[in-house]
Amino acid sequence: MTLDDAWSTFAALARRPGAAAVRPLFAADPDRVARMTHRAGDLLLDQSRTAIGPEVQATLIALARAAGVEGFRDAMAGGETVNVTEGRGALHMALRIPDGAPAYPPGWGERPASKVGSIQTNAAWNQARQTRERMQVFTEAVHAGAIRSATGQTYTDVVNIGIGGSDLGPAMVARALWTPACPLRAHYLANVDAHAWEAMHHRLDPARTLVLIASKTFTTQETMTNARLVRAWMAATMGEEGAASQFVALSTNLKGAAEFGIPEDRVFGFSDTVGGRFSLWSAIGLSVALALGWNAFDRLLAGARVMDEHFLAAPLESNLPVLMALAEVWHVNGLGYPSRAVLPYDERLARFPAHLQQLEMESLGKAVGVDAQPVAHGTGPVVFGEPGTNAQHSFMQLIHQGPTPVPVDFILVAKPDHAHPDSHRKLLANGLAQAETLLVGKTLEQVRAEMTEAGASEWQVATIAPHRVFTGDRPSNVLLIPHLDAFTLGQLVALYEHKVACLGALWGINPFDQWGVELGKVVAGRTLARLEGRTAIVDRATDALVAEILRLQGQG
Ligand code: F6P
Repeated sequence: MTLDDAWSTFAALARRPGAAAVRPLFAADPDRVARMTHRAGDLLLDQSRTAIGPEVQATLIALARAAGVEGFRDAMAGGETVNVTEGRGALHMALRIPDGAPAYPPGWGERPASKVGSIQTNAAWNQARQTRERMQVFTEAVHAGAIRSATGQTYTDVVNIGIGGSDLGPAMVARALWTPACPLRAHYLANVDAHAWEAMHHRLDPARTLVLIASKTFTTQETMTNARLVRAWMAATMGEEGAASQFVALSTNLKGAAEFGIPEDRVFGFSDTVGGRFSLWSAIGLSVALALGWNAFDRLLAGARVMDEHFLAAPLESNLPVLMALAEVWHVNGLGYPSRAVLPYDERLARFPAHLQQLEMESLGKAVGVDAQPVAHGTGPVVFGEPGTNAQHSFMQLIHQGPTPVPVDFILVAKPDHAHPDSHRKLLANGLAQAETLLVGKTLEQVRAEMTEAGASEWQVATIAPHRVFTGDRPSNVLLIPHLDAFTLGQLVALYEHKVACLGALWGINPFDQWGVELGKVVAGRTLARLEGRTAIVDRATDALVAEILRLQGQG
């Protein structure tokens, strides 16, 4: 089937009356739950609560084939130039290849299409392996007290200065897995708003704090400003030399790190084929290793590798990243749902939605295809989320009764790490109940009957009942994790990474560039010049606000 044919069949199915209905699919197929449930590694994905029936599923799979999802996946794994607008590969998977393992699952490397790429992959792998070894030696030396601060004390805290992909992934993982038994406390400084630093440094002893400057480019304004701020704070008690000895750089820009005064043996590099939002597994993950221990970082990579192997080998019909991408295509392009919520029913995953926001929206928020033509269809949806049950008491109202359905990813963890089974049962009951309520809904007749039964007057029933109706048929994916640890979290993060790659192929866009954030950086530079009293051309609306700000600051 050609791509055009696949899209036409898809569009015809989406136009059919009742295309968005989920409940009839359950009625038509007693095995629906089993049919729509798939596993990879330790993760279980239940898509039974989506409006995807057998016909739609077959069409979606045909669409994936026609869009070349498998070829794109193999090209990415093989190191080919899948990031076409920046002329490079996307080799985050190479970072997860364990020592001594073949670069691909058995038989995979034999494929002719991957031959050229696999050479590049091996080079990236070798570089990744060497850096990983150095990271391990460094981490273990810090933990053993062999590497100490300038005053000879052991380190108690690590501050990671970075933003976007140089912050969100590591911060999310450290928040998810840190316990008081872990070797170091980790702090994440991202915003150029110095209130963040003001709120942080009171908790730190400069003589026992290791500082990581995490920046792929080593030029990001926010990160470099914060790095200078923190170095000045440290130098005030430790002296310039002492402070400098407690800084480490995580970057592809070795020259930039050297210019900042960081010695070569304290610079951990990575390849520019690793995108910022895919860089958790590279040197950018050093704060995770320092905070949680090397074993945890190693298990994180091993978990991601499990998902890589599944992604590379499983048929499209049972391939979790592919299935999640296809459900997204159905929701965005078929049913016209422009957003998606991610609700982890686990407080430890509080920053997971934020990580996904960058991963998905920076990757898929594009309107021009790889053929340099405007895309003719919707692309990345707005992604937002909060842990459950908190979300239920904030935005869930809109998801239940707003006019446009918002598909949800529910993430449930079966076994908690605390000894309060009653709390955990309630947490899970709420998550499951939300998924069920979105699906089943409540009809006007049911509401009327309930109200009448409870003694409401006719007038009350007439005026109140419509407000209490739930349409139902609101779709969700449910992801079930047996237990949250580094290994399963690695699987979860890699699942979404691969989903993003599949969507890039399905939508014909490059998921690995981010030109959209560049213009803001340039304009911020011009605006800064204006705020500093240097002349700069700024538009009239901005100019008026700058004048008002300067007046309020007493400088106008
Ligand atoms: O502004 C977007 C971005 O370029 C992200 O893609 C990246 O993760 C972040 O900024 C930080 O960039 P860097 O690691 O180069 O400091």
